[in-house]
Amino acid sequence: MTATGSLPASLHDALEKVLGSGGLLTASSDMAPYLTDWRNLFHGRACAVARPANTQTCAEVVRLCAEHGVPVVPQGGNTSMVGGATPDATGHALVLVTSRMNRVREIDPIDNTMVVEAGVTLKAAQDAATNAGLMLPLSISSEGSAEIGGVLATNAGGNNTVRYGNARELVLGLEAVLPDGQVLNLMRRLRKDNTGYALRQLFVGSEGTLGLITTAILQLQPKPKSIEAALCAVADAKTALALFAAFRNTEPSAIQAFEFMSGLSMNLVNTLIPEAALPLSEPAPAYVLVELASPRGGDALRELMEEVLGKAFEDGLVSDAVLAESEAQRLALWKLREEHAEAQKRAGASVKNDVSVPLSAIPTFLDRATAACEKLIPGIRVAPFGHIGDGNIHFNLVQPEGMDGNAFLARDHEMMDTVANIVRELGGSFSAEHGVGQLKTYMMPSWRGGAELDMMHRIKNAVDPKNIMNPGKIFPAS
Ligand code: MLT
Ligand code: ZN
Repeated sequence: MTATGSLPASLHDALEKVLGSGGLLTASSDMAPYLTDWRNLFHGRACAVARPANTQTCAEVVRLCAEHGVPVVPQGGNTSMVGGATPDATGHALVLVTSRMNRVREIDPIDNTMVVEAGVTLKAAQDAATNAGLMLPLSISSEGSAEIGGVLATNAGGNNTVRYGNARELVLGLEAVLPDGQVLNLMRRLRKDNTGYALRQLFVGSEGTLGLITTAILQLQPKPKSIEAALCAVADAKTALALFAAFRNTEPSAIQAFEFMSGLSMNLVNTLIPEAALPLSEPAPAYVLVELASPRGGDALRELMEEVLGKAFEDGLVSDAVLAESEAQRLALWKLREEHAEAQKRAGASVKNDVSVPLSAIPTFLDRATAACEKLIPGIRVAPFGHIGDGNIHFNLVQPEGMDGNAFLARDHEMMDTVANIVRELGGSFSAEHGVGQLKTYMMPSWRGGAELDMMHRIKNAVDPKNIMNPGKIFPAS
């Protein structure tokens, strides 16, 4: 089977005219990188890959596809954890890659906003804001590759949600191509605008099923002048939460990130990622990476960090800690956090449970889910980590050493359901930040069924009656 599906000749000629020679890929070898997800879980086929360079061309491509009944799969940096940007195996779909739309168009220091095209990587957008003396307060492990369009379409969360919210909270304006090729211009940079439905929010978290995000206006923040980071050794999630409460109760507005890492997951990072050695004298059962930031300079933040950690030592919440003494050390501490997904990939096959529960339920969740998974698959490596300050744990499960990876993955639903059942009992969500994609569509009826899923269906059918945009994502096959 080749990667190429069938592109109707009339559509081929029309697309070539609109996209120019470099903008349309149809050879299997050219299309291959766009047909597999980052995790290597999904392998799709496509009739073509389109790489438009501006909104008008996107609109024309979508219009032509709609006319020919050809589905469109939007793709940015291809970093989805749930197969959200990979086409299905039929070969009918066209993959629309937004990477060539990569301009930061404007940064306004009075409005504190940035106008950015869909194909700009999150890292490039962050850097542009920093260079302008501001900050784009969204940070995820894949920010070097993930692009703004996908970040918004999936309502990405990440490390700074605890202070600034998810991607949704940062979007003031949006431009999107609708499934019939119309351009919907919602590019208003207004804090207040109560004029009917906030349509831009429909596209945030829609995973490309309602249209293609092409441009956005994002809310920026002042650039921190002081920033303090510390890696702390803790006994477990309960003590991590007590430490979070200690910071929150002292100076809630200073917390910029509060991340949890299990000892097992950290050990994979230390073992499998070069230059990611543990900077503490001995391994601990668990770790917290806490970052404080303020737009004011001076020593106040350092004093705050030392005050709270000093008391935490006295209270037995923290057994060891290292404070970053330079920007290089701060980045080195973050490397220890950002490499968990990559280390787990190198450790073999893994099943990701990106769940959230109320903060108070996290220790119970971890205890129960660990016991249940260890019973289900003896030797399984339970490697949780994540954004504990948001109640979001990546309860990731790595295959037992020596086990066949495919045999492990064949049992993914058993593992996911085992974890999800506990999450449900504790009032949580089965997908906190990665979305539904194609990996978790099967869970939607039991989790979001009834009026909720019915309303989602009605919105989808109203906006995209021909099911052109990213079919097979979010909604289970009917
Ligand atoms: C992260 O926070 O690093 C991720 O969302 C990755 C993961 O779940 O593996
Ligand atoms: Zn995450």
